[in-house]
Amino acid sequence: MNKKQAGSNKMYSKDKIILEQLTENDAEFFYDITSRLNYGDNPFLPFESQKEFTKRIISFCEFTFTIRMKDNPDIIIGECALHSWDKEMKEIEIGGSLYPDYWGKGLMRSAFDLLAAIAKQNLGIEILRGQTKINNVAAIRLVEKMGFEKYRIDGDNVIMRKMMS
Ligand SMILES: CC(C)(COP(=O)(O)OP(=O)(O)OC[C@H]1O[C@@H](n2cnc3c(N)ncnc32)[C@H](O)[C@@H]1OP(=O)(O)O)[C@@H](O)C(=O)NCCC(=O)NCCS
Repeated sequence: MNKKQAGSNKMYSKDKIILEQLTENDAEFFYDITSRLNYGDNPFLPFESQKEFTKRIISFCEFTFTIRMKDNPDIIIGECALHSWDKEMKEIEIGGSLYPDYWGKGLMRSAFDLLAAIAKQNLGIEILRGQTKINNVAAIRLVEKMGFEKYRIDGDNVIMRKMMS
């Protein structure tokens, strides 16, 4: 994992991608990708601006990042996050989205590998959790390739878990 500091934003890189700490300056992007690719409940509060929404999610998550390609770092292609930290269980949830043009290229695997390392190093996490819809084949396949196993079905959600080594 490569870690560097650009301005005050934390950055990490692996394979073809760069993670850069999400800030309220990314509000337009973050609101857009969440509106397009949210498969769960409506995440927006009534009358919430893009900036307010982004600030609220940043404060709710332990880590939130934009995803960019190393060879085109001005374009944001997705986001990823660690949230819902259970300190007692040393467990945290991992999640993220890429714009469709970037699916199926193994890019989120690099992002999730970085998030797993960040979770372990910074928070002492021992269990990673992933939650998605039972019909989200790509998301389930992605985390299965990382060693996650199905833990629980909750309505039309599946919860996947992985013990970190
Ligand atoms: C789910 C997601 C993060 C996967 O990231 P990715 O970088 O595309 O993942 P990969 O390239 O490793 O692909 C994962 C698997 O899904 C499959 N896959 C990718 N795109 C697919 C698609 N459109 N339809 C069906 N399968 C697909 C791939 O074939 C791959 O399996 P394989 O390696 O056995 O062939 C990405 O598709 C995405 O952003 N989706 C929208 C948001 C989302 O669903 N996020 C997760 C919700 S919590």
